Parts: sequence; structure tokens; C-alpha cells
Amino acid sequence: MKVAVIGLGYVGLTTALLMDKAGYEVTGCDISQERLDSIWMHKMPFHEPGLDEYMQDHDMFVSNDIEMTIKNADVILVTVGTPSNNDGSINLQYVFDAMKEIGRHLDSQKVQLVMLKSTCVPRTSEACIILLEQYSGLNHGHHFGFVMSPEFLREGSAVEDTLHPDKVVIGFKYDFEGELAMDFYAGFLSNWGLPDILAMTNYINAEFIKYTNNAFLATKISFINEIATICEQNPGADVTTIARAIGMDKRIGPHFLNAGLGYGGSCFPKDVSALINVAENAEVEPAILKEVHATNISQRHWPIEKIRERFGEGMHDIKVAVLGMAFKPNTDDVRDSPAYDIVDILEQYDVIVNIYDPIVKHCEGLDSKFCESVDEALTGADCVIIATEWDEFKTITPETFIKLMKRPIVLDGRRIYNPMKMIKAGIEYYGIGFGRY
Ligand code: NAD
Ligand code: UGA
Repeated sequence: MKVAVIGLGYVGLTTALLMDKAGYEVTGCDISQERLDSIWMHKMPFHEPGLDEYMQDHDMFVSNDIEMTIKNADVILVTVGTPSNNDGSINLQYVFDAMKEIGRHLDSQKVQLVMLKSTCVPRTSEACIILLEQYSGLNHGHHFGFVMSPEFLREGSAVEDTLHPDKVVIGFKYDFEGELAMDFYAGFLSNWGLPDILAMTNYINAEFIKYTNNAFLATKISFINEIATICEQNPGADVTTIARAIGMDKRIGPHFLNAGLGYGGSCFPKDVSALINVAENAEVEPAILKEVHATNISQRHWPIEKIRERFGEGMHDIKVAVLGMAFKPNTDDVRDSPAYDIVDILEQYDVIVNIYDPIVKHCEGLDSKFCESVDEALTGADCVIIATEWDEFKTITPETFIKLMKRPIVLDGRRIYNPMKMIKAGIEYYGIGFGRY
């Protein structure tokens, strides 16, 4: 099968490399020449565990010749970004630009399938099909097929998630489109054929499924964060114990109940905002979604409030170590990272900040120093904020904090330490959702 992939970011590049490995003839296209050069030279343009080995020996073509790429393909995947506009609505410009380009070059001599995998608000598929027809002069359902098949991979585990998805959603209108899409997935998913992983539906449900999925996970996180805030006002209460126990209830499940500095990244924040916007445009008040978003934002202020309470006016003279800059472990992605906002606020208070992250070594827009090691960041600090739960931070001992820091004050924003062990060892420990005695 010949596949064109338009947009070689986290989703597009991961899918392209895994399809290449499965024997598909893959051509990748991107508007960033730098990205194309990097892939051409077998160099990963971003950090994603396990993907590098596929990058080393891939046979995929990369091209900025979109005409040739489209004309040759049986299936054309669209995996371009869908960022937020300033008002929280979705920016579909990259998707629409890609559809226009594809429309210009569709081959009238064969029936090609356009598969939209980018996260797009309800009714985007309809708009894409209109553009494809306008720019090609061909008819949907007769000359070409279109499916909406959203992606559910997570950064940091993109390879595993792509090969073994919990589900495959295919939104289609004509039977032949659904069948072509199933053939496409059957050729490269390791767990294809398992019962219950396939959701075949119409376009609008496929679009809604993606948003509902992300919004529900975001809701779980904000919910447990609200419980965490209540726990902190009740000495002896600990949200991690509570989350673990409620997670044993099969109706709740154990995942996405880690209290902390809230969700970040390029997906949950923008998708919750876009769904709020969709609701408001339909004159529906999305009360729950708005609270999910508001709770998430307030979590980022947790360490700032703790510092303000602890140091008062003196906070302007302190030195703070921030461990972690990526929005979650095992990625170098800092898009909408809670750590970024925390450092940004501290900088506004003229606090000296030393940052350490195992992978992120620089961040546009921040002036603070990036250190080479945990030890360098901790040395002489008045307090440390755990902003991302990298494994490397979990093994730091109380003795290290005490030895290196000016004052061993630990603000555990990801609940990676045992509070009682820390306190017994002489650490002034504050953890999200831990009610101090
Ligand atoms: P990304 O920003 O990492 O990559 C998008 C790529 O598309 C960029 O390299 C950009 O240069 C390229 N591009 C933009 N317009 C183009 C065009 N007209 N032609 C060719 N290339 C073009 O984005 P991503 O994180 O891979 O996300 C892509 C989509 O998938 C988004 O809608 C996102 O919400 C969704 N998604 C992302 C993830 C994730 O974990 N990152 C998971 C599931 C779904
Ligand atoms: C998320 C979804 O998990 C994917 O299924 C989806 O495909 C993707 O968004 C998307 O639509 O783009 P991702 O953003 O890569 O994936 O990462 P997650 O593991 O979901 O974490 C998101 C954020 O939530 C991180 O900042 C993480 O620290 C936070 N989180 C996660 C918590 O605060 N608590 C938890 O219990 C879990």
C-alpha cells in the first residue's frame, strides 16, 4: 500500500515510521524543510522513546513535492497541527490548507482515500470534503473517499500506543471508505482483529469521540486535584491513598487519578478549550468543562502560593530549584507545560530560578538558568519544586536535599516522595493533596 503522510509531527512521524516498518511504501510531507532534512538524515526531530530505532533504518521518502506525493498515494493521512486561537477556539487553518493542496493533486484515474487524523471539532469533516471537491473538481464517494479517524496515542509511549491501540475509530459515509480504512489499519497494527477495538461510525461521532475522550480524562485529573485541595486542609488526609483505593473500583479505574500540578501538553488544554467553544457556539453552557479548565489553571499556582505563605515578603530574595520542564516525563515537549508557567510567574517576582530537566535544555521565553544536573540545580536553593515526575527525581534522597540546599524545603508537585519518610528525615515537606499535621 502506498501512503502519503501530510504533517510529520508526533502523530505523523510515529505513524509513518511504523507503517514503513510494516512494509508500506510511505512518503512524508511537511512544510518545515528543517524537519524534512532531519528525517532524511535519519535524525529524530524530537524526543520519543523507542522511535529512534525505527528512524535509524527507515526506507520512507520525505518530500516537499506535494503533487508527486499525493498523486502516487492510495491513502493520504492528514496529521497536521490544530492549535488553539487566542479565544480558545480551534485553528483549522493547517487542516484546510492541507485539504486544498490535496484537492489540487488528487488523481482522477484512481479512487484514493483521504484520512484525517488530526483532532478536529465537529463538522470539520464536512468542511474538508467540500474543499476537496472544490479544489479537485471530483466527487466524494465516487472519485475519492474520506474518513475521520482520530488518533489516541500519548507522547512518551507513542510507539506502543500506535501498535496496540485501545480502540480504532473510523468515521465514514460510504461503505467502501470504511473498508479501505480497515484494510489500512489491518496491515500495521499489532493487535488488529481483537474484538471491541473498532468503532465504526459517522463523521460527527468520530469527531465528538476524540473530544469526549480527552475531556473525560482531563475531568478525572481536575476532579482528583480538587479532592487534593480539600485533603490539604485536613491533617492526616492523603490524596494518593484515596486515589489508589477508589481506583480499585472497576467503575472508576486506576488511571488518570494522579493529583499534581495539572495537565499540560499540546492536547488536553487546547481540546478542553475547543470543546467549551463548540458548546458556547451552540448556546450550551459547558459548566463542568469550564470548571475542569479553571481547576487545572489554579493547580499551577500551588507552588507559588506555598512559597508566598512560607517566605512572605522575603520571597523576592530566594533561590528556587525547579526539577522538570517537560509537560510530562519521557518527552521534550514543553507546549503548555505547567513548569513553564510556574517559572514564568517566579521570574515576574524576580525570584532566582535554577531549572533542571533530563531532556529539555532550553526554553524560549524563559530567562532562568538551565543546569547540567540535579545537584547543580539544588545547590544553595531555598526550596525545590518537583514539576515533572521524571524517574531520575524519584531517587533523590532526603540526605541529598539536606546536603545541597540552603534550606531543605520540598514542594512535591507530582507526589513522587513518601511524605512521612521525608518529614522524619528532616525535610520541610509540602505535597499536593497531603494534609500536614
Ligand atoms: P505537531 O505540531 O507535532 O506536528 C504537526 C506537523 O504538521 C508540523 O511538523 C508542521 O510543520 C506540519 N504541517 C502543518 N501544516 C502542514 C501542511 N499544510 N503540509 C504539510 N505539513 C504541515 O502536531 P502533533 O502533536 O503531531 O499533532 C497533530 C494532530 O494530532 C493535532 O490535531 C493533535 O491535536 C492531534 N494529536 C496529537 C497527539 C500528540 O500526542 N501529540 C495525540 C493524538 C492526537
Ligand atoms: C493525551 C491523551 O492521553 C492521548 O490519548 C491523546 O491522544 C493525546 O492527549 C492527544 O489528544 O493529543 P498526552 O497529552 O500525550 O496524551 O499525555 P497524557 O499522558 O495524557 O498526559 C497529559 C497531561 O496530564 C500531562 O501533563 C500529565 O502530567 C497530566 N496527568 C496525567 C496528570 O496530571 N495526572 C494523571 O493522572 C495523568
